Amino acid sequence: MNAPWKPGPLGNRDPFAAFICDESALDVLRPVVIEMGWQPEKCNKGGLRNAVQSLSISASPAILMVDLSESGDPLNDINGLAEVCEPGTVVIAVGQVNDVRLYRDLLASGIHDYLLKPLSASQLRDALTQAQAVFSNPRNSDGEAIKRHLSAAVVGTRGGVGASTLATSLAWLFSTDHRMPTALLDLDVHFGTGALSLDLEPGRGLTDAIENPSRIDGLFIERAMIRANDNLAILSAEAPINSPLMTDGSAFMQLQEEFRQAFEMTVIDLPRNMLINFPHLLTDVNAVTLVTEMTLASARDTIRLLSWLKTNAPQAQPLVVANKVQTGAAEISKADFEASIERKIDFAIPLDQKAASNAAKLGQTFADANRSAKVGQTIGQVAKAIVSAGEDDEAEGDHASAGTSLLGKFDLKSLLARKEKRAAVSAE
Ligand SMILES: Nc1ncnc2c1ncn2[C@@H]1O[C@H](COP(=O)(O)OP(=O)(O)O)[C@@H](O)[C@H]1O
Ligand SMILES: [Mg+2]
Repeated sequence: MNAPWKPGPLGNRDPFAAFICDESALDVLRPVVIEMGWQPEKCNKGGLRNAVQSLSISASPAILMVDLSESGDPLNDINGLAEVCEPGTVVIAVGQVNDVRLYRDLLASGIHDYLLKPLSASQLRDALTQAQAVFSNPRNSDGEAIKRHLSAAVVGTRGGVGASTLATSLAWLFSTDHRMPTALLDLDVHFGTGALSLDLEPGRGLTDAIENPSRIDGLFIERAMIRANDNLAILSAEAPINSPLMTDGSAFMQLQEEFRQAFEMTVIDLPRNMLINFPHLLTDVNAVTLVTEMTLASARDTIRLLSWLKTNAPQAQPLVVANKVQTGAAEISKADFEASIERKIDFAIPLDQKAASNAAKLGQTFADANRSAKVGQTIGQVAKAIVSAGEDDEAEGDHASAGTSLLGKFDLKSLLARKEKRAAVSAE
């Protein structure tokens, strides 16, 4: 993950709050809390439900202790808590059910620890000291407290090549097959199709964000984004086309930052012109998928975009995906295309009209509506490649180039020459 750990907004939180069901547990807890230097008034009487209520209207503390004793379905209720709890909060659950499965499931859902009642002072002291260490030094923890974040941009070499089709499909697959909480940011602000392809109304969220970047925070994105499924939220717009877009791009940076806190994956549908106007959008991106067609113009612009990426986003792994590929009917053959861009095409997605109409009819993404078709399978492979590119990033911790030489000399001249030659041959 590229984002440096920022103490900023977390530094202003209350260090601790507890919601405990019974007085005797509170009596054990309060002295330990005082020892830790925190306010005993933050030990509230109540359980999970009170915690959810309270956190939905106030900032989350750094460490939250919550009693599950009165909860009928602890796992489900913990998910309710996750919805109102700010990312980064270290949650310690307390309960009276001694069940390893529950314990494991709670840890898997992001809970830091589970303490069994009756509580003892030393057990509390240990748990709180540990939680404090995790909160103040999350990168050294075992990785539970702070989740990794991957960011993938999708750029079309030309309009209509299928960049948005791929972006929505990938976002869908990350959120379902890969089970990653995913944000789709559709930066085709006037003509975006991210929401449309999922049969949703884009709402005013993105337009509001652009007009009022200072309002962007966790709560804003929670409200402004539309949900496509439990794990996928979209920020998209059909901004009015009678006035130009006025933005310095700060809203987009701010959104990316918030997504990093709230999701595990960000997919950005990034029109070419946005990349030119706001190059900073790609400074933290792990993988950039260039969607192209097998045409001369696309070959030229693939070369130019790859070179741009090498200069402006060297940390990002580029993937070249040829879309709408028709065997035997390409303007440029695969071999010529690859020779000209001086690298391999990573994935080729066939032209499949039936699949496109299927997706449109069902109001589903292209990949989801056609899972068993070649198009769906290939996009599934692209998704996997992006996730593993991100994992490589994390493992290496440095972002040297992806290995293949991309800058390459323009081979366009020879390509054009060959093309002319072919035209001459066929004219004879
Ligand atoms: N592999 C494909 N086969 C057939 N149609 C496709 C394919 N990929 C995309 N399309 C269609 O092409 C059109 C343009 O796609 P879109 O994703 O909006 O392009 P872009 O965002 O690059 O401008 C859409 O109608 C989409 O359904
Ligand atoms: Mg598009």
